[in-house]
Amino acid sequence: MPNNLQIIKIKVQNFKNYKYTLVDFGNCLHTIICGANGIGKTNLLDAIYFLSLTKSAFHSDKQLIKHEEIFFRLEADYHIEDIDKKAIVTYTPSEKKSFIVNNYHYPSLAEYIGQFPVILIAPNDTDLIREGSEERRRFFDTLLCQIDKSYLQKLSECNKILKQRNALLTHFKEQRNINTTLLEVYDEQLLPLMEFICTARSNLLNSISSITQKYYDSIAQSTEKINMIYQSDCLDIDFKNHFKNALQKDYMLERTTQGIHKDDFDFLLGDIPIKKFGSQGQQKTFVIALKFATFEILRNTLNITPILLLDDILDKLDQNRTEHLMKIVSQEPFGQVIVTEANIHRVEYINQKKNWKIIEIDKL
Ligand SMILES: Nc1ncnc2c1ncn2[C@@H]1O[C@H](COP(=O)(O)OP(=O)(O)OP(=O)(O)O)[C@@H](O)[C@H]1O
Ligand SMILES: [Mg+2]
Repeated sequence: MPNNLQIIKIKVQNFKNYKYTLVDFGNCLHTIICGANGIGKTNLLDAIYFLSLTKSAFHSDKQLIKHEEIFFRLEADYHIEDIDKKAIVTYTPSEKKSFIVNNYHYPSLAEYIGQFPVILIAPNDTDLIREGSEERRRFFDTLLCQIDKSYLQKLSECNKILKQRNALLTHFKEQRNINTTLLEVYDEQLLPLMEFICTARSNLLNSISSITQKYYDSIAQSTEKINMIYQSDCLDIDFKNHFKNALQKDYMLERTTQGIHKDDFDFLLGDIPIKKFGSQGQQKTFVIALKFATFEILRNTLNITPILLLDDILDKLDQNRTEHLMKIVSQEPFGQVIVTEANIHRVEYINQKKNWKIIEIDKL
């Protein structure tokens, strides 16, 4: 059984709109953060996200410092099974971010990440469906980097070589001459990296689509079939030849035209692209199901139950979907769940069974 992770308390200092605030979740697994628009509900979830992933879900580090202040500091008490952990992060723009857990100063962010996993579901997540392919590659890459450290290393290496190869193509174009021997040195390193990344993305898609379907079914209580299709040049059995044959085109366009940097992921409901024809509620349900699948994969790989952060999640969902969703997150495999909600009627609705702790931000 994965270890349960719980955040017990968080102290937020000079972070976005907070000067100095302590939020005490106590030993409660289910919390609703409520308060008016603009009061700081999302900012609080972002602070918990930052403590997990060493970055904000929405903004650059500098934008997180409260206006007219020069640093921010977050401190959180966690409970993992029987162990207490105190994490402290401080950030001043002129210095590196500092991460300390139980007095141990982490030398690198990569070493720190993974101890306090969270899954955040936020209103702008449907961008994943609506925006361009880069958004989808980033989403799946973030997950792959968390479950396989060698993926992160290989992806960075691949991106670095791609950049160098493109710079070289520009240089050749300017010189009106291609040095194929030099390009081959790059291609020999690049092709196995692309193959590795393509296989990892393809395997992930195979496993994540059935879990997404499971959650979609239970939220929507429908028989709508989800299809997630991975599109990549590298899936072609003749990819190496295609890559080599594209050299003239690459030279003309001064960039690498084939490879994993062009990959995309199609999301369909039945045979119909969700992007074009899905209603807002269907798009939202799909993204929530996909994020729940991410939760399950992370939980199994890290052997820790992540904290689920649900920001304004109920907007656009009908009563049935809302009801099923709240039921799903209240039980296994989910652990601690923190929901934000501005609409007091929905707070009352969620808390019908009185087992949610309600924290009103303006009363802190
Ligand atoms: N660096 C900063 N310094 C000061 N205030 C900031 C900073 N960054 C954001 N804010 C303020 O935080 C407020 C937004 O907070 P947040 O998004 O958490 O609100 P919310 O309670 O989630 O509202 P909603 O119900 O509309 O989603 C805005 O008023 C914004 O001006
Ligand atoms: Mg908000």
